[in-house]
Amino acid sequence: MLLPPHTRYTDGPADPISREAWARAAGNYLAHCARERNWNKLIEIPAMRRLLGDVRGKRTLEVGCGPAHYSVWLAQQGAEAWGLDPVEALLDAARRSAEEAGVELRLRQGGVECLPEYLDGQFDIVLFPMVLEYVDDIAGTFREAHRLLSPEGFVAISLVHPMRSFSVKHETEGGEELRIVSGYVERGVIEWSMWIMVDEEGNGIPCKSHRRTIEDYVEALVGAGFLIEALREPDASPEGWAVDPRNCRENHHCPDFLLLKAVKR
Ligand SMILES: C[S@@+](CC[C@H](N)C(=O)[O-])C[C@H]1O[C@@H](n2cnc3c(N)ncnc32)[C@H](O)[C@@H]1O
Repeated sequence: MLLPPHTRYTDGPADPISREAWARAAGNYLAHCARERNWNKLIEIPAMRRLLGDVRGKRTLEVGCGPAHYSVWLAQQGAEAWGLDPVEALLDAARRSAEEAGVELRLRQGGVECLPEYLDGQFDIVLFPMVLEYVDDIAGTFREAHRLLSPEGFVAISLVHPMRSFSVKHETEGGEELRIVSGYVERGVIEWSMWIMVDEEGNGIPCKSHRRTIEDYVEALVGAGFLIEALREPDASPEGWAVDPRNCRENHHCPDFLLLKAVKR
């Protein structure tokens, strides 16, 4: 079976290898976030903000917040923003951003295992931005999110589009081309070390994540009592096309991101 480079199927859970990898690669991720030519900024973040709608006065929890750019933005829009992440270096960056933006965030260190410590109905929105691939038990996590939400509440999710985790870049005479490889339904835990998962000496930082299909996420949400209200596969904005036409063309060919909004039934 053909897999992207530096990627292999492996045994066992993704956690805690995944959070250890994020701790080691925290500096690389912050550098990625600071870049202008950054597909999250060009494609995912604007689409997610549209999905969130008017958040004034809402109580929000961002799970796997990392540097908490969503929570800073939510607080700027008038939300009461809470954040949770296992990596202290990323939370430090979140605290600096909040200070620069002049907003208050309620941050704590920890992963999805901390969700049971929050109260029933404590939040109006629970966000999972670019994090669920690292979470082993999405069914249990969604059940907890359902409990934490107020009756009108919803979850907002962004993911690497499941089709994208089956793609490789391929050199051709015309330049790089994106090709879909292996089977879409080949689920499992993969170990990978590329992109930001490389240390200063060029050695891979092994990270583990789950390969799941869209059906897996929908089933887990519905099983936890949610109703899917929106599913988005965003195209780049005109500004995005102007800044980074190559990545936007790839996203056009095979979407980079999948966004889901699910409401409490
Ligand atoms: C791709 S980053 C996304 C960070 C942030 N949400 C963003 O959009 O910039 C993945 C994040 O998931 C966090 N993470 C990894 N495993 C986790 C777990 N089991 N529970 C909660 N967060 C986790 C990492 O520490 C990291 O901050």
